[in-house]
Amino acid sequence: MSQPRLIAAACVVLTWALLCLWAWRRARLQQAQHARAQQALDAPAPADALLVAYASQTGYAEALAAQTAQSLRAGGLTVRVAALDQIDAARLADYRRMLFVVSTYGEGDPPDAAAAFAGQMQQIPAGAMLAGAQYAVLALGDSEYAHFCGFGRHLDHWLHAQGAAPLFDLVEVDNGDPAALRHWQHHLGLLAGRSDLPDWEAPVYESWRLADRTLLNPGSQGGPCHLLTLTPPAEGSRPWQAGDIAEIGPRRERGGALQAHREYSIASLPEDGGIQLLVRQMRGPDGALGLGSGWLTHIAQPGDEIALRVRANRNFHAPADDRPMILVANGTGLAGLRALIKARRAAGHRRNWLIFGERNAACDGFCGEDIARWRQDGTLERVDTVFSRDQAERRYVQDCLREQAHAVRAWVDAGAAVYVCGSLQGMAGGVDDALQDILGAQRLQDLQQAGRYRRDVY
Ligand SMILES: Cc1cc2nc3c(=O)[nH]c(=O)nc-3n(C[C@H](O)[C@H](O)[C@H](O)COP(=O)(O)OP(=O)(O)OC[C@H]3O[C@@H](n4cnc5c(N)ncnc54)[C@H](O)[C@@H]3O)c2cc1C
Ligand SMILES: Cc1cc2nc3c(=O)[nH]c(=O)nc-3n(C[C@H](O)[C@H](O)[C@H](O)COP(=O)(O)O)c2cc1C
Repeated sequence: MSQPRLIAAACVVLTWALLCLWAWRRARLQQAQHARAQQALDAPAPADALLVAYASQTGYAEALAAQTAQSLRAGGLTVRVAALDQIDAARLADYRRMLFVVSTYGEGDPPDAAAAFAGQMQQIPAGAMLAGAQYAVLALGDSEYAHFCGFGRHLDHWLHAQGAAPLFDLVEVDNGDPAALRHWQHHLGLLAGRSDLPDWEAPVYESWRLADRTLLNPGSQGGPCHLLTLTPPAEGSRPWQAGDIAEIGPRRERGGALQAHREYSIASLPEDGGIQLLVRQMRGPDGALGLGSGWLTHIAQPGDEIALRVRANRNFHAPADDRPMILVANGTGLAGLRALIKARRAAGHRRNWLIFGERNAACDGFCGEDIARWRQDGTLERVDTVFSRDQAERRYVQDCLREQAHAVRAWVDAGAAVYVCGSLQGMAGGVDDALQDILGAQRLQDLQQAGRYRRDVY
């Protein structure tokens, strides 16, 4: 072999040897990193640690889990991040609070790496393993597939069946839908105690106008609640359906130049000519106006521009058929139900039972005229109002449900869907407990899976 050829061959061999060495070192480094991460996970969790666990095939869920952890850490929370393949299902009991970000493949299957975890889930029978713990699930998927968010839904049911309580309802993300991700961030902000966390991706708003604002509860013991009417941009707006949400971009700064959005249930139909909202004015412990509600109820003036984007909220759309509906709300939760009742009226679906709770009949019977009219024209077959402070004993919508257990069962037996809108704290849990007692846990879970128990709670 000639000398140049020999040199060329030696170079190739040397390069190959270097590549092998590099690959070997990289594998060792990765192994060491993995072992360190596993060691950290195996160590006892600090009592207050919140677990963010993910199952990802191509890295999207992993990236969102990292962003989730970052948002929570910004609020000073102690967070552990782990892939589901690094955790033993039984070890979940070490955590009091857990967030899961998981994708779905195949026929509702988990990503490959989480197959072992999913197997463990099957081995653990329903029980109280996670009693006292709280959880939430961000389910990634694509509605083009038959088993949309299948693994996320399955994990959500399993956690609940193990006795854990949802921090908030399952958030399903269709093909990376940024609006669903903003909804998840809204809840992260509440968990982190930070209402100023910037959106991961800011929405593109339409320019609406504040046409009218009416105080609905003068003299109330609660915060002022306003009915707002917004008119659409001249060039038209995105259509919406009863149950959808308005995302608002408050044109205010707080503590810097942050522009976090706020969500409000839409209380009107497109046929009404605009979007109506019921907004409760919120104040912080220092008396400062809430970022969004302060903007809408105090700072923005009639005629001012309101940055708004409609978010479809399929989970809270009215049933397509004329099945009976039990509609339960407290406070501003009436907003979402108001739009649903209008839609049912327009469709001629009249088997509607409204259960609404507030503080005092004298000041807080808001939208009372609408309700009386709907009662009179037969849109509402039945109405129960519950004013918590009008008697010595506090009374809430969940108490009304329990008192009317027989009627609730009869309506559900007749195919009714139950829709709940309003406070996550207190009301949603209380109503859930009451429904479990009235119908049984399994039947309520069946109703949920059949889309006959739906909630829009915040
Ligand atoms: C799906 C959905 C639908 C909703 N529908 C409605 C509706 O129809 N009507 C309605 O009125 N609301 C609704 N909300 C709630 C609404 O989105 C806002 O959360 C609410 O208006 C308060 O927002 P804010 O910006 O005014 O207050 P924020 O500025 O977010 O403050 C809210 C509260 O957090 C506390 N807080 C403020 N700053 C801090 C801080 N730095 N650290 C810790 N705590 C702080 C204060 O106690 C304050 O009262 C809905 C929410 C969701 C998710
Ligand atoms: C081959 C393939 C199969 C999929 N199957 C489903 C499915 O059955 N149900 C579903 O909701 N999404 C399905 N998806 C969508 C993924 O769950 C979604 O893209 C997710 O965001 C991926 O996140 P990841 O990168 O973290 O795995 C599938 C995607 C691919 C590429």
